Amino acid sequence: MQSFIENIPKAELHVHLEGTLEPELSFALAKKNGVDIPFETPEALVAAYDFHDLPSFLSIYYAGMNVLLDEDDFYQLTYAYLSKARSQEVVYAELFFDPQGHTTRGVSFDTVITGIHKAQLDAEEKLGIKSQLILCFLRDMSAESAMAHLEMAEPYLDWLVGVGLDSDERNNPPIKFTEVFAKAKAMGLKLTMHCDVNQLNTLTHIDQCINTIEVDRIDHGVNSLESDALCEMIKDKKLGLTVCPVSNRFVVQSLTSDEIHSMLDKDMLVTINSDDPAYFRAYLNENFLELQKEGDFDQAQITTMVSNAFKVSWLDEATKNSYLAQVDDFVAQH
Ligand code: HPA
Ligand code: ZN
Repeated sequence: MQSFIENIPKAELHVHLEGTLEPELSFALAKKNGVDIPFETPEALVAAYDFHDLPSFLSIYYAGMNVLLDEDDFYQLTYAYLSKARSQEVVYAELFFDPQGHTTRGVSFDTVITGIHKAQLDAEEKLGIKSQLILCFLRDMSAESAMAHLEMAEPYLDWLVGVGLDSDERNNPPIKFTEVFAKAKAMGLKLTMHCDVNQLNTLTHIDQCINTIEVDRIDHGVNSLESDALCEMIKDKKLGLTVCPVSNRFVVQSLTSDEIHSMLDKDMLVTINSDDPAYFRAYLNENFLELQKEGDFDQAQITTMVSNAFKVSWLDEATKNSYLAQVDDFVAQH
């Protein structure tokens, strides 16, 4: 099972680039940029990671961004993640980035997206990992700020595949961003939003995502299982759910394997993802391996989740089908 998980070609659809910042790179960039980190060593920094809910994670995540200043910093961040992912047989990734986490610190939108984009091109050419970029809005900032950042993105539209919504969900419902997401859709972008596990009013938020925003996918969305009606809508509309087991464990003390079994039993399009792998100390393979141990998933179920990720990805049909054929070939040979 371990080699099956490690070697099957995979896609990752829910990973925040800023959440892939490894402590060693963080220290190197801090030194280069003259930024102070209040820890002696990368190990001491990791030892201070103490997450028990979304806000406690987010405060450490935003503090971590302070070392990212110039275009090459964003290049290095992105290239390092894509190298690591490729070493785990991830052949395709859809990457979130949080421009407002940088523009609010005086780093320009152009600096951020250009560094990321150049690394995507190089990683595809040199490592053979394809990727597409998703601009995430911070839901605890205003809708006006989100709209301003969507406008900043207009000259770079060819570099983006979609928009998402992340950060602190409490009192920041999807409908706060109805206009922004309608405009993004009109620009030809795909839509997704976080419905993090066990958030206040989560069922209302999931319902708004589906029926008001009309998202193409939902990030997390585990609590949809509490409502038969929501499950039916998610199935009817063939919406993918990007579940992040190790990330969930910080909030609900389980990898949500029971919930993932329920989704598979209901034929919901569940996928497995790493979310913020440098902070949660688990990339995609570790997420699958730990989940498999907790929930005793068999190879057919692992294959379904891997295939689901390609199916609900934002690739054209021909490319999707060629990745799905690679998965089938691997399974046939294994
Ligand atoms: N949830 C919300 N916002 C985030 C996350 C997350 O898991 N990771 C980075 N920003
Ligand atoms: Zn996330």
